[in-house]
Amino acid sequence: QTEISRVRNLERIQMGTYEIEPWYFSPYPAEFADSEIVYICEFCLSYFGSNTQFGRHRKKCTLLHPPGNEIYRDSNVSFFEIDGRRQRTWCRNLCLLSKLFLDHKTLYYDVDPFLFYCMTERTAHGHHLIGYFSKEKESAEGYNVACILTLPQYQRKGYGKLLIQFSYELSKIEGKLGSPEKPLSDLGLLGYRAYWQEVIVDLLVERELDGTMPVMSVEELGQALAMTTNDVLHTLQNLNMLRYREKNHVVVLTEAVVAQREKQRAKERERGKGGRRCIDAERMQWKPPV
Ligand code: COA
Ligand code: NA
Repeated sequence: QTEISRVRNLERIQMGTYEIEPWYFSPYPAEFADSEIVYICEFCLSYFGSNTQFGRHRKKCTLLHPPGNEIYRDSNVSFFEIDGRRQRTWCRNLCLLSKLFLDHKTLYYDVDPFLFYCMTERTAHGHHLIGYFSKEKESAEGYNVACILTLPQYQRKGYGKLLIQFSYELSKIEGKLGSPEKPLSDLGLLGYRAYWQEVIVDLLVERELDGTMPVMSVEELGQALAMTTNDVLHTLQNLNMLRYREKNHVVVLTEAVVAQREKQRAKERERGKGGRRCIDAERMQWKPPV
């Protein structure tokens, strides 16, 4: 754990078919600050200061996906689980890369205590990294996510919500309530708030259509969504969906909230690809590590 609050050091990076401008400092070796472009192998995440070196590497690199087990696959994406202890170099490279887009003061060089859940997009050329989240193997605070990132070239397309959903699907299988590590970045908070609002409102609407509404408590919502009571409460408060009756919190689905969700769905449909991306829990091939 090292204190890092320095200015951005890399001008540009190239990764796959994308050129990206980093947002923050990341402790790549000092000499890379002199390169106009740092070339990052999109599969092994090694870095090179010149195109020649990078080209030489690409001829030798045989990796076509993150170095772990594929634990999920649907028609759009796959997830791979990577153990920080077994794949130390790869995971350190991932942390270096993601620090370029994370303003946290601390960076974990010690990747051993973490598992990394990496989401990829398949093409004929391999599994291309979209984003990931890390998770402590043992979290005393019950966090189900440590760090979360969508690579900038894939942001604002709904992938962040997919990553978040996946983290909660893991918590459901573990039979635990999860919450992301604090503090969240501004973007992290926006992403989580959007996800929490969506899943809570969708569940309540579904229940209402079922005829099983209106009785669903804050705790029941938490259980159904693997969310902590605190996160459910804050979300409901933000949406003005809590009433206090006879010394109890009562959850109400307001017309305003339903209308807002409808609007959002319309926007998602406009964006195409059949609306909201979603993890299909039945496709998960995962058991909690023992
Ligand atoms: N401005 C405003 N709202 C934003 C936003 C932005 N730049 N980025 C995300 N949001 C909100 C929106 O409500 C969005 O839903 P919408 O696009 O339907 O309006 C919602 O978050 C989810 O967006 P989504 O496309 O699913 O997320 P993403 O793939 O862009 O990823 C992060 C979200 C947080 C993972 C991504 O911004 C990121 O990697 N940031 C840098 C790293 C970071 O800060 N991680 C969190 C550390 S705790
Ligand atoms: Na939560």
